[in-house]
Amino acid sequence: MKNICIIGTGYVGLVTGACLAEIGNRVVCVDTDAQKIATLREGGVPFYEPDLADLVARNVTIGRLSFSTSLAQGMHDAAIVFIAVGTPRGERGESDLQHVRAAAGEIARNVRRDILVVNKSTVPVETSDLVAAILREAAPSEHHVSVASNPEFLRVGCAVADFMRPERIVIGVHEVSTANILIELYAPLNAQVIVTDVRTSEMIKYTANAFLATKISFANEIANICDAVGVDVTEVMHAVGADTRIGRAFLQAGLGFGGSCLPKDVQALAHISRAHSVTPRMLEATLETNRRQIDRICERISVLCGGLKGKKVAVLGLAFKPDTDDVRESPALALAARLVQSGASVTAHDPIAVPNTQKHSPPGIGYAPDPYTALDGAEAVVVATDWNEYKHLDLTAVAARMKGDLFVDARNLYSPQSVRDAGLRYEGVGRPAKRPTAKRVTV
Ligand code: UGA
Repeated sequence: MKNICIIGTGYVGLVTGACLAEIGNRVVCVDTDAQKIATLREGGVPFYEPDLADLVARNVTIGRLSFSTSLAQGMHDAAIVFIAVGTPRGERGESDLQHVRAAAGEIARNVRRDILVVNKSTVPVETSDLVAAILREAAPSEHHVSVASNPEFLRVGCAVADFMRPERIVIGVHEVSTANILIELYAPLNAQVIVTDVRTSEMIKYTANAFLATKISFANEIANICDAVGVDVTEVMHAVGADTRIGRAFLQAGLGFGGSCLPKDVQALAHISRAHSVTPRMLEATLETNRRQIDRICERISVLCGGLKGKKVAVLGLAFKPDTDDVRESPALALAARLVQSGASVTAHDPIAVPNTQKHSPPGIGYAPDPYTALDGAEAVVVATDWNEYKHLDLTAVAARMKGDLFVDARNLYSPQSVRDAGLRYEGVGRPAKRPTAKRVTV
């Protein structure tokens, strides 16, 4: 059992804190946001993440997890302090490190024993060195303060499962003894641990997210070519992904990638690249393809509806992916906003993301209590997030409630024929109506 302090009760900090408590440690999660700490103390979790609320409640009850606004209190017994604060995007796409710097400064002022400071925030290469420099300068010299990098690979929507059954744990350290502390901490997870130097560990995090994003943009580019040549991209990717060197994951063409991680991290890596005079051509193309995907689909809907002015469009899904209420950089929300800008009247539905959408979205989007109500009188419907709830719609009921007949499957969830059989026009991403194969002409 180790005493741990986690700075930041956002998505990464809270999941990490609750899971480390679950595997037997005593954890104090600290945040400067008093409102958030009050909510957590009352048993509330400030965002939706499957299994997290139960995990938090259980570990609070057995006394292994607590919350505080005071870092002095959080660090009182802690041998390990995790930095899990936000690193928002700066003006030029760079990662804004103000919260990391502030956390390092605060830690330095509260060092009362030898500690290990672990950076879990997603940060550019060299940030752990910066944290170490701040600590060296401001922490009392009689205590040994070591610094490690330990990036997270949690996916929104299955973060607890990802933490408990990781495919790998990456630990970046300057000293072997530091690595051993973290290897021991994570031992109950029985996972592959990869120990590197600190900079390599920081680079691994950005590279992983950039590669995932690039796979998605690649799939979307291929989808656009498939559209032009009359081939179904899902069949292509099914076969291509069967090659284990390529793999099937993240080759699903659709509206593009969103969320608080992939877009921001690709931009941050591109920024690092340019700052070191390396032109990030692939990263730029990944971002550009992603931006264009929304325009492309919006333009396509407009063409198929004969213009969007005054037309009612139902948008199913607002979250950036299923199983979350997170709408940050959500392609579904961006599409809804683009449709409104183009003159359409949009009625949206999402199983849980509507309250968050109302906080963030531009005006002009109406909301329906269930997917079918959203369809009433619509010229077109767009399935924009791949929630399970939208995978088995009653297509006959869909056709009956709509005024028009355009079914835009922007996540390629349906068999085109099943949609056509219900009397609807099917429009997927990279799934055109198949062209008949040209017959060989014998002269
Ligand atoms: C991503 C990474 O997958 C995690 O490994 C990482 O830890 C996390 O960022 C992070 O840095 O914190 P997440 O943001 O939860 O996780 O979302 P993903 O599951 O990666 O999906 C991102 C976007 O790509 C979503 O909008 C999703 O709909 C889209 N996507 C995904 C596709 O369009 N096609 C695909 O084939 C896969």
